[in-house]
Amino acid sequence: MKRKARAKLGMALVVLAWLTVAFIAFSPVRSTTAQEQERDGTISTLIPSEDGEKIYQQKCQICHGIEGKGDGPVASALKPPPADFTSSQLMDSLTNEDLLETISKGRGSMPGFAGVLKPEETAAVIEYIRSLDDREE
Ligand code: HEC
Repeated sequence: MKRKARAKLGMALVVLAWLTVAFIAFSPVRSTTAQEQERDGTISTLIPSEDGEKIYQQKCQICHGIEGKGDGPVASALKPPPADFTSSQLMDSLTNEDLLETISKGRGSMPGFAGVLKPEETAAVIEYIRSLDDREE
């Protein structure tokens, strides 16, 4: 009886953990400017490029890591592991079109973000992950 209850609690915790990951990864991005514009009744069409970092932190960091090294909190559970954006060798081999396609459609255990990020948000996040290149340090 007790063991069963504990097993149920364990399952509930696993489900809760995944829901949390899904919630963080798939909730819409709200930048301050977008919030302000929404309050003012206008719709934002362009977002400043510094929002790329904010989007990255909200949508990508959990897998790709704070510095983009592919070492986020859930990375060790993923095979193949998340891409390392600090590798100039990797990033040089990818065009912006390649990045756009992977981010939009997803790959392996990475979900696609086509329905989550607006085109300009995807562009901003691509600009940001390119800035993580190890040559910048
Ligand atoms: C649930 C974890 C997860 C999240 C969230 C996630 N990724 Fe990934 N990402 C991965 C994994 C795992 C791979 C490697 C997939 C493979 O090669 O099979 C990957 C690969 C990539 C690649 C491919 C690099 C290459 O080698 O072509 C790009 C680009 C990328 N991610 C960008 C992003 C961006 C930008 C975000 C946020 C908008 C993001 N990812 C969010 C897990 C994630």
